[in-house]
Amino acid sequence: MATDFTEETAADAVIESFGAQTDPRLREILTALVRHLHAFAREVELTIPEWERGIDFLTRTGHKCDDERQEFILLSDVLGLSMLTETISNRKFGVATESTVLGPFHVVESPVRDLGDTIDLVGTGVPCVVTGRVVSVDGTPLPGATLDVWQANDQGFYDVQQPDAQPRTNGRGLFTADEKGEFWFRTIVPSYYPIPTDGPAGELLKATGRHAFRPAHIHFIVTAPGHRPLTTHIFVADSEYIESDTVFAVKKSLVEDFEEITDPEVAAKWGVPVPFRHADFDIIMQPGS
Ligand code: BEZ
Ligand code: FE
Repeated sequence: MATDFTEETAADAVIESFGAQTDPRLREILTALVRHLHAFAREVELTIPEWERGIDFLTRTGHKCDDERQEFILLSDVLGLSMLTETISNRKFGVATESTVLGPFHVVESPVRDLGDTIDLVGTGVPCVVTGRVVSVDGTPLPGATLDVWQANDQGFYDVQQPDAQPRTNGRGLFTADEKGEFWFRTIVPSYYPIPTDGPAGELLKATGRHAFRPAHIHFIVTAPGHRPLTTHIFVADSEYIESDTVFAVKKSLVEDFEEITDPEVAAKWGVPVPFRHADFDIIMQPGS
């Protein structure tokens, strides 16, 4: 005999409809999704116009996506889901450097550069030297570790956002640490910047009185044999928005002082003018694959 679909039985009815052949992990995920989705609709007493508005919002989110733009990820970012998933997948392991989101601008292969090269191909902005060491959790240096680096310019734009104003691969470099695991390169201090706001994710920010900015940062993907690849940033400690990243990706351990140096002798050693800024930090890799 047919049973009525009620507010109380709705979630169970959907979950019980899943066939025996359903993949166990898919069953686990869909069961939790249906339970939480139904609980949410009951909690807010979702109206039909609100449901329609939600469907329209998600439809427009899909329409905004193409090969270069992923509005669903941006939505996930501003809702904190990207960072939550990242944090669950890469739980802090002892002293290992923490990870953070990849972001949408790692879109071109970084050019191979030598240690000491500059990734700034334009020459505006405050000169900056980044130095450090890649080591394992027990302090063993990791020679040959690779560091894929990318950053926005001093106006807050990535090269791919300004194809007419910036040379392709500006702000990008692929470096290999030396025999002591050390790395160093020249750049300019990146600026804070807004994430794209001309789509539904931007609408959501506006509707909830939120700004769209990320604090200044440099992205890294670090790899070393026998160690888990690490996707992370270093954040400029005195940047605006350091306390209110719109994608919630700041971790205290990733905030670095970019110290101002005015000594001409030190500047000459790195091949930069004075004043310049210097950030130095160890990247501590977690054994594994
Ligand atoms: C980024 O850091 O490049 C980024 C991360 C999330 C959303 C938008 C940009
Ligand atoms: Fe970024």
